Amino acid sequence: MLTNRQLFLKYLGQTSPSPMLLEISRAEGIYMYSPDGKEYIDLISGVSVSNTGHSNPKVTEAVKHQIDSYSHLMVYGEMIQSPQVKYAERLASLLPPSLGSTYFVNSGSEAVEGALKLAKRFTGRSRIFSFRNAYHGSTHGALSVQGSEIYRNAFRPLLPDTHLLTFNEEQSLASIDGKTACVIIEPIQGEGGIVLPSGDFLKKLRTRCDRTGALLIFDEIQTGFGRTGTMFAFERYGVIPDILLLAKALGGGMPLGAFISSHEIMSSLISDPVLGHITTFGGHPVSCAAGLASLSIIEDEKLADAAERSSAVFKKELLHPLVSEVRGEGLLLAVRVKDPGAVRYIVSHAPTHGLILDYFLFCDDAFRIAPPLIIKNDEILKACSRIKDLLDETMSRNS
Ligand SMILES: Cc1ncc(COP(=O)(O)O)c(C=O)c1O
Repeated sequence: MLTNRQLFLKYLGQTSPSPMLLEISRAEGIYMYSPDGKEYIDLISGVSVSNTGHSNPKVTEAVKHQIDSYSHLMVYGEMIQSPQVKYAERLASLLPPSLGSTYFVNSGSEAVEGALKLAKRFTGRSRIFSFRNAYHGSTHGALSVQGSEIYRNAFRPLLPDTHLLTFNEEQSLASIDGKTACVIIEPIQGEGGIVLPSGDFLKKLRTRCDRTGALLIFDEIQTGFGRTGTMFAFERYGVIPDILLLAKALGGGMPLGAFISSHEIMSSLISDPVLGHITTFGGHPVSCAAGLASLSIIEDEKLADAAERSSAVFKKELLHPLVSEVRGEGLLLAVRVKDPGAVRYIVSHAPTHGLILDYFLFCDDAFRIAPPLIIKNDEILKACSRIKDLLDETMSRNS
């Protein structure tokens, strides 16, 4: 009989020459467990998804309650489904009035697709700007605005009239012109290796968009829901986008995405043609119920503030001869190492130290730390002690 590992390699479509190949049978809080009971501290939250921890009882209860009432009823936007309505209302209560209309989809990539279409439709223009080292997803439109030529070139032709700017380079903003439908940006670049916007770069970008009539899209798919120490990263920088993209933690561990805008902008999907974006499963009631429960936990337990405090503990504890910098906001951190060749060793050997760590797509000299926001002080100390053992081992392998 084949093992699950063999079945995984035989029957699941593979995209990586070196997948993690960890089998997990249970996950709770910040921990994952293998079938033989080995404990792993999850330091990546399934890539910024599990902000309220794994198997959070309140989220599980919301899922069970909703599935007992109904699951899928009808394609998005036709029937009044209370989990969607309640969640959209709650999001609106947290966001500025100009972000009062939420369109729920299935994923981050679909949120990007919806937002690009919305911007083209509202402005009647086609030109789109994005930034080098940006990651916005893997579908064709999202890939067209991805900031890596290596990934894009393999799949050309992509969306026409898409152009890359350099993050934090103010003079490049002059390229945004009257033909531009939108500019899409992560306010803090994630896969680029947690790159923070410098000075008033985002404010200057906002001003340029206002001058030219281009819509400003913030991709907060990775930075949302308390991850960077505020509920949304845009709050840190005092810049409000025209369209906000959410996914990942939005669903509390269930698949869910959203593009959010003003009623005026969003209404351009209603006519000429009608049904400007269609999704069967978008805003699935079970995902919305889970997401709403998760958001309530983030608010009630003040997890954004907790992320800010925990960030300082990681930064203080991770002093090590191999570490040159721990950068980032809240619990979206990049640990930069002095020997870039060591990153592969560190991430691939993390499981033997009871840790789950991850790479960045576009940053070779750092690894990611983004645990569930519920992580407690003693758990951070335990995780950092394991990381330092791993870093010692990494250094000794070279000597
Ligand atoms: C900033 C950002 N945007 C978009 C996406 C795409 O989201 P999804 O994988 O749900 O399609 C990701 C996924 O990692 C992301 O980090």
